[in-house]
Amino acid sequence: MFNEKEKLKEIINLGLEVAQVKDIDLLLEHILTRARRFVNADAGSIYIIEDDKLKFKYTQNDTLQKRLPSGKKLIYSTFSVPINNKSIAGYVALTGETLNMPDAYTLPEGVPYSFDKSYDRISKYRTQSMLTLPLKNNRGDIIGVLQLINAKSKDNRIIPFLKEDEPLIMHLANNAAIAIERAQMTRTIILRMIKMAELRDPQETGAHVNRVGSFAVEIYDAWATKRGIPQEQIDKNKDVLRMAAILHDVGKVAISDTILKKPGKLDNEEYEVMKHHTYLGARLFNESKSDFDEAAYIVALNHHERWDSNGYPGYINVMTGKTIPGYETADGRAKGKKGEEIPPFGRVVALADVYDALSSRRSYKDRWDEVKILETIEKERGKHFDPEMVDVFFNILDVIRSIAERYPDE
Ligand code: C2E
Ligand code: SIN
Ligand code: SIN
Ligand code: SIN
Ligand code: FE
Ligand code: FE
Repeated sequence: MFNEKEKLKEIINLGLEVAQVKDIDLLLEHILTRARRFVNADAGSIYIIEDDKLKFKYTQNDTLQKRLPSGKKLIYSTFSVPINNKSIAGYVALTGETLNMPDAYTLPEGVPYSFDKSYDRISKYRTQSMLTLPLKNNRGDIIGVLQLINAKSKDNRIIPFLKEDEPLIMHLANNAAIAIERAQMTRTIILRMIKMAELRDPQETGAHVNRVGSFAVEIYDAWATKRGIPQEQIDKNKDVLRMAAILHDVGKVAISDTILKKPGKLDNEEYEVMKHHTYLGARLFNESKSDFDEAAYIVALNHHERWDSNGYPGYINVMTGKTIPGYETADGRAKGKKGEEIPPFGRVVALADVYDALSSRRSYKDRWDEVKILETIEKERGKHFDPEMVDVFFNILDVIRSIAERYPDE
């Protein structure tokens, strides 16, 4: 057993590992370097929206850098700008417009924003041409601002940013926004996982959740490819699915230790309580701020539904746990979701989770041998599990086995 500190460390490492976390600072550096190279800009900055303000997060400036002794880093302070008409960055964050100005010192008559020259004065730099773009995620929400400064010609004169470069840079800004959001999300998740560390189910080891994440991604990939889902969409889904699958049982933190850690079989009443872990987990992601939140919600809620409709929690209101009116069964329960009423992420994690649970030792049961597991999965084709997903599971069994080897228990 890990002590509390080791457990925390383990979970943090896991979070970092599974998310292939790009440290947000490295990510910003990478984005700005690439954006500047596109348009040959001497300088640039990235602002990110935090707490309803625009925070200056990162900057590069070749001219100022060259004035420093080699090996020294450009020092800059972080500051906040209100999201309003006053500043150029604030205006772009507010309106989502792209501003391409040949000279920040001579703005057109009547524009609401103005350029603050004080930073130039302090740094002895002359800002001239400036291209300022919103960083929009794939939902169209503005999450920050990218500002490129002083485009240079081949002979190093400052020139305006070319109008025809704008679409390329906008495309890059969109990709950047998605990457930034992902890095922020990862950080949020890690923080959440840390909070839960002490409460977690001792069965839910790093190896187990990693395996479920990887099995789910591989099964989904094979299934979606067979279905002809576009590669781009598959890649995007794999990314969120892995983490969502890792957190499929996060609702177990709300289940009392006497049930969660019971060494023997659960009685009926205990099992009924245990079933609440589905919608209790989903509630954590109810706000659906990002694609990840949405995926995590779907997986937590639906991973114990069964293809034949005999799973749980079925048609309930996630906030109250009560059956949705009109969906009561004869014995007063909620009607289970059936077949394709269960979202694909739910169907895929159901299979990944059971496969791994059967392959693992639990405090109340031994691990099963592979023959018995595979027989069970085949037998449950079209009963517990989506038949198409069972078929692709058997097609990729070699990959599934290699994952189990990659993440052994201890
Ligand atoms: P889990 O251990 O992650 O198991 C996930 C699912 O794998 C189970 O969902 C079940 O569908 C399948 N599964 C796991 N072990 C077995 C097994 O030995 N035989 C069969 N036929 N299926 C198995 P389920 O049943 O809804 O359980 C949800 C969670 O409730 C389990 O997650 C586990 O944490 C807990 N649980 C279930 N039964 C018991 C029990 O008898 N004793 C204790 N202490 N916990 C249990
Ligand atoms: C939470 O922070 O636990 C819920 C907010 C969310 O992720 O939607
Ligand atoms: C169920 O029957 O859906 C849950 C119990 C199990 O699969 O072992
Ligand atoms: C399952 O429902 O996947 C478990 C199969 C069994 O009951 O043996
Ligand atoms: Fe579960
Ligand atoms: Fe599990």
